[in-house]
Amino acid sequence: MKEVKVLEFPKILDERGNLSFFENQKQIPFDIARTYWIYDVPGGEARGGHAYHSLQEVIIAISGSFDVVLNDGQEERVFTLNRSYYGLYVPKMIWRHMENFSTNSLALIVADQPYNEMDYVRNYNQFKRLKFNL
Ligand code: TYD
Repeated sequence: MKEVKVLEFPKILDERGNLSFFENQKQIPFDIARTYWIYDVPGGEARGGHAYHSLQEVIIAISGSFDVVLNDGQEERVFTLNRSYYGLYVPKMIWRHMENFSTNSLALIVADQPYNEMDYVRNYNQFKRLKFNL
């Protein structure tokens, strides 16, 4: 899972409150085509459970915390996101889901493509077949 990485965004610390930011091709390693967010997740629920054929994304816990579980078909890694100045970069063809959302957590996802259901891989066995050319 060598392409997966945790990005640290700039922090402008100020007595009036802190500020962080990202820009295309700088802190975010692509041009953002779409931003969406996940909120009001009931306790115990999970989101995701799919991979993308070609989309890459960065996932940020703007508020609260949650776990992002990544699986490349061989190993699984869990990233707990709980600070708004970290972003998890997830390349294409990684199976991923999100779980353990804290109360009032807010997940922000920026992606390099508009929404396209055709880019989703929603079946784990199909994901493995595609990943390993089976
Ligand atoms: P989905 O990506 O399957 O949610 P999750 O992976 O978090 O479980 O999306 C759920 C629904 O929302 C699906 O019907 C498609 C729609 N949707 C959009 O219309 N635009 C978007 O940008 C996203 C992410 C989802």
